Amino acid sequence: MNRTDGPAKVTGTATYGAEHQISGLVHGYLITADIASGEISSIKTQAALECPGVIKIITHENCPKIIQPSNNFMASKIYEARLPLSDNQIHYGGQIIGLVVAQTFEQARHAAHLVEVEYLPQPPIIDAEKALFTEAPPMFGEDMTFQKGDFQTGDSWDDMNQAAVTITATYQTATELHTPMEPHSIIAHWEGEDKLTVYEPSQWVVGSQQTYAELFGLSREQVRIITPFIGGGFGSKAFPWPHAILCVAIAREFQQPVKVVLSRRQMTANAGHRSETEQTISIGAKEDGTLLAIDHVAKSATSPVDVFTEPCTGITPAMYKADNLRTRQELAVMNVGTPTFMRAPGENPGLWALESAMDELAWSLDIDPIELRLKNETHLHQRQQLPFSAKAFAECLRVGAEQFGWFKEPRKVRGMSHEGKQIGWGMAAATFPGLRGMATVTVRLLADGTAEVLTSGNDMGTGCYTIVAGTASEVLALPIERIRVQLGDSLLPNGSMAGGSQMTATLVPAVMAACQEVLQKAQSNTVSEAIEKLKQSNQEAFEATASSSPGEEGKQWAFQSWGAHFCEVSVDEEIARLRVKRWVSVMNVGRVMNPKTAASQVRGAVIMGIGQALMEQCAFDSNLGLPVVYDLATYHYPSHADIPRIEVTFVGEPDYNFNPAGVRGLGEIGITGVSAAIANAIYHATGKRIRELPITPDKLL
Ligand code: MOS
Repeated sequence: MNRTDGPAKVTGTATYGAEHQISGLVHGYLITADIASGEISSIKTQAALECPGVIKIITHENCPKIIQPSNNFMASKIYEARLPLSDNQIHYGGQIIGLVVAQTFEQARHAAHLVEVEYLPQPPIIDAEKALFTEAPPMFGEDMTFQKGDFQTGDSWDDMNQAAVTITATYQTATELHTPMEPHSIIAHWEGEDKLTVYEPSQWVVGSQQTYAELFGLSREQVRIITPFIGGGFGSKAFPWPHAILCVAIAREFQQPVKVVLSRRQMTANAGHRSETEQTISIGAKEDGTLLAIDHVAKSATSPVDVFTEPCTGITPAMYKADNLRTRQELAVMNVGTPTFMRAPGENPGLWALESAMDELAWSLDIDPIELRLKNETHLHQRQQLPFSAKAFAECLRVGAEQFGWFKEPRKVRGMSHEGKQIGWGMAAATFPGLRGMATVTVRLLADGTAEVLTSGNDMGTGCYTIVAGTASEVLALPIERIRVQLGDSLLPNGSMAGGSQMTATLVPAVMAACQEVLQKAQSNTVSEAIEKLKQSNQEAFEATASSSPGEEGKQWAFQSWGAHFCEVSVDEEIARLRVKRWVSVMNVGRVMNPKTAASQVRGAVIMGIGQALMEQCAFDSNLGLPVVYDLATYHYPSHADIPRIEVTFVGEPDYNFNPAGVRGLGEIGITGVSAAIANAIYHATGKRIRELPITPDKLL
């Protein structure tokens, strides 16, 4: 199926957050801190207030009332626990310290730069080597699955000492930014004191609705969130950020709709990032490659105003069988913006380290890396103590090796070259848990032979519109052109959240159930019979609303998606020039609802992984502690010329233990393992083992 929202996107008629046309709209512009730690000693707004068009300026001295929300994730959640402008303290460079509202964007921006701020600075903690790391506290309450960093099984570490081969190595990743194509924005529209409409890119409109209700003392019904399209989120658009909370607060004061759009520079500190990480892994194995023990310690950093641990070690007990496993997470507080979920949080850096270490082990043992992985595959999730459902990891490895031609060349370091460049092949595993939530969907079959599918769940560019339409088309047996899908509006039935790669597995079963119920209500076996009945009955529509949610299956099975990446790199050693030449990804994600958009999801994730491996890095000025990323030129990521053709294949069976559609998600799995596959290929090509991302030319020299 082609993307049903494709024409709207390429013709510009798809409406993104900042593009909604609301009459009487005025513009907000943020004032941000020029130091990374300390406090504001004075803030003078008089000159700015006298500028033409300026309506209002808020700082910590006159911030409107905002209620601290329960912030417990399930009911309401804000990204940064400290409410904006709550005091004069500066916790990180670029922190929001005020908001100017004016008739035009340009007037607001000009005035923002006339606000005079004096600081009492403190030396910022910006260097992980000088930060204090301690055991990571739980996140979001004790029972969240995200609290999964620390684990131990097996009580003897003798095995590690008795291993024929032991690998111990430390791997690093850089601070990364989400950089969605659509910048963060919000339009807050109050009609009176108790009716709020928010236009904002939101991965979770029902969550945002509840959260804004709590922040401003409203009932849920008094708040409406509208998000028909999102230009990429990657985890950074799930909850309100401080700029959005301030925009809603100030708009209430003078009862005019206010729009705030963040610049790329402002997004660096105020829209989340993936923390830099440092992971140390030890693996002990027998001569024949059987793993005996894995020890995995991860460090990441959070901001002074919230706790977010990048849970790198969560995946380790699921990957390979070993009788002795120990994982630990450590966290430090640094003067950086608040980190958050970013595509495969934890799994991504976790597999960078684990899949690099497995490659190092394979070379030490002189065993093929595919064989090493096949030998140690586990059919039991060693933390959950449950068997994996519909796991086809071995098939991913075999099919990928075949497609890539992995066994065609003898495996030898620096063994291949072409036109003066070293050639290398690398592979790594990919994985991500199968998650699923509750969703409600309404389906209306109309007498004109079309159908409507309505739910608040949304499409952040993933292809959700298309698979919802495709599912309804399949169950109702109507051509896809006759299905209209409405998403991303909190007035619609609760369609859950686009996060954790769960939107498809959550929505599709509910769409199926609602479509089946429509046919039942019509007491018809076929859709044409139902449409005939409608015409005769003078009713407008047959309508049904159905919900679908997880049951007891999670007590019996561990649900996890699997994959393998294979790549070829060429390295021109004289000028340290690296090219990724070839890419093969094989994925096992249960049923594939739409091969075309599914393959696009994996390709997008591989491209994002290539960026992480080779380019992406949010650097900080080590003296000032301020980020030195201002735009998409100072944050390097891949362009088309950096990317080879990416072959994507799906293997395995539908996972009917998981849901009636047999589908697991695939938004995040594609990025996991990518950076390790590249580093492993670089080792093969050059004999250099690089353990620090991004692999910029200086590291190849
Ligand atoms: Mo994702 S990091 O769950 O949007």
